[in-house]
Amino acid sequence: MSLVIRNGTAFIGAKFVRKDILIDDGKISSIGVNLKGDEAIDATDYLVLPGLIDPHVHLREPGDVYKEDFATGSRAAIAGGFTTVMDMPNNAIPTITKARLEEKTRLAKEKAVCDVLFHFGGTDDNFEEVKKADPQSMKLYLGHTTGNLVLKDPASMEKHFRGFPKERQIVLHACDHSDVEEVNLEKTYATIEGAVASAKKINRRIHLAHASTGHEIALAKTYGRCTVEVAPHYLFLSTKDAERLGRLGKVYPPLKSEQKKLSLWKALPQADCIATDHAPHTIEDKEKGAAGFPGLETSLALMLQGYERGLLDMEWIIGRMSSNVADIFGLKGRGRLEKGGVGDITVLDPKEEWKVDGTELQTKCRWSPFEGMELKGKVHTVVKDGEPIYQEYEFK
Ligand code: NCD
Ligand code: ZN
Repeated sequence: MSLVIRNGTAFIGAKFVRKDILIDDGKISSIGVNLKGDEAIDATDYLVLPGLIDPHVHLREPGDVYKEDFATGSRAAIAGGFTTVMDMPNNAIPTITKARLEEKTRLAKEKAVCDVLFHFGGTDDNFEEVKKADPQSMKLYLGHTTGNLVLKDPASMEKHFRGFPKERQIVLHACDHSDVEEVNLEKTYATIEGAVASAKKINRRIHLAHASTGHEIALAKTYGRCTVEVAPHYLFLSTKDAERLGRLGKVYPPLKSEQKKLSLWKALPQADCIATDHAPHTIEDKEKGAAGFPGLETSLALMLQGYERGLLDMEWIIGRMSSNVADIFGLKGRGRLEKGGVGDITVLDPKEEWKVDGTELQTKCRWSPFEGMELKGKVHTVVKDGEPIYQEYEFK
């Protein structure tokens, strides 16, 4: 069966152009005008995007499936326009051995409706397991967060930097979360400087997770092989919101002052990609002090606010949620609408207005720090491997 997505405004070669996309056998077989297929989707009023890629999610399986699992988390991804997500290793049962990676891979294959890739956790003593597991990417925790995955030996980071293939990516959690902003930022900046110096010395690529201030981006960009991601909540929420949200407002890195939020907007053009850091917790766990926000279903529409307010180009936003992520993580055939590429396509209705309502979300946690916010731009259709699995704003 072939499928044509007709008359849409498609993101091709970093520009928007009016083109049809034909998918055959799960792959993009042709891009042109007046294309014909067995089935058609009319995208006249819509933007046709490569399936978006989120490099930073916590789908919680195995270990904490009461918070999220591969079925609910991947449905949240699709509803948010993401056809590929990269899952973090800080599960209650951490992903730090070959067996754990294989288990996650199997569970995701069984249950997920989008593609799930995995960052493998590095510890102070799993260097041999890294070699055995041979993962596509790694994550190193240089500071504490949800779970117990943290490097304690200061020599471990560089040992992983040297041991892991240089062309593959190592993602760094550099944030500290001491209560006082000046203290956590000072520590975070020092950690980033140390990591950059070490990576520079051995000429390896690294990727900085969830920058929450402009200065973190500036520090990352002192090294040409360090890429950096920003999560939308640091652009749209501040300590003012944290006060309003109470325990629901806790997240690592912590939300920053209004002034720091503006510094992040200012440095944003230098950021390499957008990541949701989708980190669902139940309301009960939030009441007990859990840190993290769900983000898969709000991130695209939030970034589009940047466009609505005249701060960001649409091309910039979409590139940083698709092709740039693919390039950073070496994901061939994804993140671009091109012949031979995977038939993963997100059709966005840029005019549809909606209000965030946690109870309507696909994520198991069913709340959002953006509750009640009015947004514009909604995922209309998602095609996964050539199959329309989400249509008219709903799962089929
Ligand atoms: C994440 C989680 O809950 O797994 N929490 C968060 O506040 N971002 C962990 C993390 O990304 O640090
Ligand atoms: Zn995270």
